[in-house]
Amino acid sequence: MLLRLKTETRPHHERTEAAVRLMDPGLTPGDYRRHLEALYGFYVPLEAQLAARLEDAVPALRPHERWKVPLLEEDLRTLGHDDDSLAKLPRCALLPALPGVPEALGCFYVLEGSTLGGQLILRHLKRHFTNVPVGDFAFFQAYGDEVGPMWRAFGQSVTEAAAQASSSDFDARVVKGAQDTFDAFGAWLLRETAHAPSRA
Ligand code: HEM
Repeated sequence: MLLRLKTETRPHHERTEAAVRLMDPGLTPGDYRRHLEALYGFYVPLEAQLAARLEDAVPALRPHERWKVPLLEEDLRTLGHDDDSLAKLPRCALLPALPGVPEALGCFYVLEGSTLGGQLILRHLKRHFTNVPVGDFAFFQAYGDEVGPMWRAFGQSVTEAAAQASSSDFDARVVKGAQDTFDAFGAWLLRETAHAPSRA
């Protein structure tokens, strides 16, 4: 299942990666904040959907230990946001469709996998913003030293859920959920971070 996810979403990863402007040499603190604001608008509604789909259905995933909204809030508050301004940030209305558990697993795979590429981004941001007060990069730190173990545990739970379902339809729906999530994520990032000023 994991190998299939990786292979069949590769072009989607590449397209979404291209929509991430955090490696641009001219990245400003405002651009970084804008990116986090866009992430917030995507993660708030999406994590709510994932919670509804997965918390009871697949507790082995320990979804409540994986939510990134609190980390995004921490970063955004450091960058000047408060309750009011956070509540006013636009939310993505074109989320991937998650009609069932398999699609939600595929979607969660994308969010969890992004913590891996996130380590690379983290190293870059730390270098790029040396001596610039932009906070502690809570979102990109994610699980800190536990990124590897958390990813492996996630993979194991997904593998077990797919083995238990033991149906090619289930597997295909997981892949579709992941592909749609990458695409929705990329489209939202492009829309929200291309030339738009920060809303803080
Ligand atoms: C500049 C942006 C990005 C870069 C440079 C990047 C880079 C990477 C790298 C190097 C890996 C492999 C890490 C490893 O195997 O240890 C990876 C994995 C992954 N990334 Fe990204 N990534 C980026 C953005 C994203 C975004 C925005 C998402 C999600 C929306 C994402 C989702 C994933 C997933 C799901 C995997 C796991 C693939 C697998 O092994 O099955 N990435 N990324």
